Amino acid sequence: MDTLKVQGGYPLRGELKVQGSKNTVLPMMAAAVLYKGVTVLTNVPMIRDVYCMIHILETIGVRVVFSDHCLVLDASSLQSGEIPLEDVKKMRSSIMLLGALLGRLGEAVTSYPGGCSIGKRPIDLHLEALRAMGADIQDDGICIRAGTKKLHGARISLRFPSVGATENILLAAAAADGVTVIENAAREPEITELCLFLQKMGVRITGAGTGMICVRGGSGLCDTSYQIPGDRIVAGTYLAAAAAAGGDVCLTGVYTPYMTSALQVFRDCGCDVTWGKEHVRIRSDRRILPVPMICTSPYPGFPTDMQSPLMAVLAYADGISVIEENIFEERLNCGAQLCRMGADIQITHNRARIIGQKELKGAWVEAGDLRAGAALAVAAAGACGITKIADPGHIRRGYEAIDQDLQMLGGKVWW
Ligand code: UD1
Repeated sequence: MDTLKVQGGYPLRGELKVQGSKNTVLPMMAAAVLYKGVTVLTNVPMIRDVYCMIHILETIGVRVVFSDHCLVLDASSLQSGEIPLEDVKKMRSSIMLLGALLGRLGEAVTSYPGGCSIGKRPIDLHLEALRAMGADIQDDGICIRAGTKKLHGARISLRFPSVGATENILLAAAAADGVTVIENAAREPEITELCLFLQKMGVRITGAGTGMICVRGGSGLCDTSYQIPGDRIVAGTYLAAAAAAGGDVCLTGVYTPYMTSALQVFRDCGCDVTWGKEHVRIRSDRRILPVPMICTSPYPGFPTDMQSPLMAVLAYADGISVIEENIFEERLNCGAQLCRMGADIQITHNRARIIGQKELKGAWVEAGDLRAGAALAVAAAGACGITKIADPGHIRRGYEAIDQDLQMLGGKVWW
């Protein structure tokens, strides 16, 4: 097991370009299999989830070249719709290939996805939608076998605006005959970007970024190149680290209109946060104000992925804050690890009551999931002494070089 070490007490200062977005690039990699040709993605983060998706794509016959953050995918000789079981277990986004493979080959075999252990992660909405589009899906609780003569458009009303289900439907709809309408679609930036990417590929889509997306499928696709935007959650993590450790940090390469709710919360915490369209600057004197109540919710609400890093910041607040987690029930688990560092956090159902402390202390802690691992690094950056974060591989799934990034800003962080 890797251990991320953080020696706290060093303010963060300087400028950093944020890596490309994990949750944006993964569905685009899946989308590449729709097309018998070449897709080029730039500003791709060199993270474990991307390497895992590359492995899956190579296994099913996609030719891949990845160097210097540029990913070239040639799916002209795609051979198989069978996604290797061990890869599916490693990464939840592999489920995204279901819609794309059904669209391209008319068949797909996969199993229940893995990823972060942050609570139940059903895929019922994905499967119901694909069935409505003409897929025959056999699901024995372990293996999922899907087949279709040809997908057709459908009107799909999601009970919940699931990001993954919306992405899967978009990919299936791009290859289906006729029109697909998604009602109560997710509005996350990653959906908007996927729609823009598919449009560039030749798919006719309206309503990107709204709750109602309309896709006219079956158009001829073309070679596409697309630049992955900066990762809004990685940016938010580094803002949180600067808030906790104090300092003056400017992040570039981010699209701040996608970060509005998080930026506002950092201001509510008493940090001086200013931004332009593609950069954000935070100045923190470590006097963190409590936030009486913050609830996670689908975009444009406060993102669940930022909940743990925010909890780490509020552990230092001058007063009591409450966080309500409404998307993934086990995502508050990070609180118990923060308590090992001296935080005072009480969890009841989906609420965390955080009684801010003047000081946290370095400790041995464990990263239970990707964002919890990042949150522990945030807390550690402001703590006294050295924190050792035991990590079975979560952090590198989503952060290309959290150690080097924080070092560039003057932090003392090493693997
Ligand atoms: C994606 C993101 C993840 C983020 C989440 C919410 C990726 C790779 N991951 O995950 O980082 O935290 O969006 O913004 O992009 N649900 C169902 N049935 C389904 C699908 C989902 O009940 O078929 C429920 C889930 O249990 C959860 C909620 O819907 O409570 C949100 O899930 P969803 O939006 O699908 O998240 P992911 O796509 O898994």
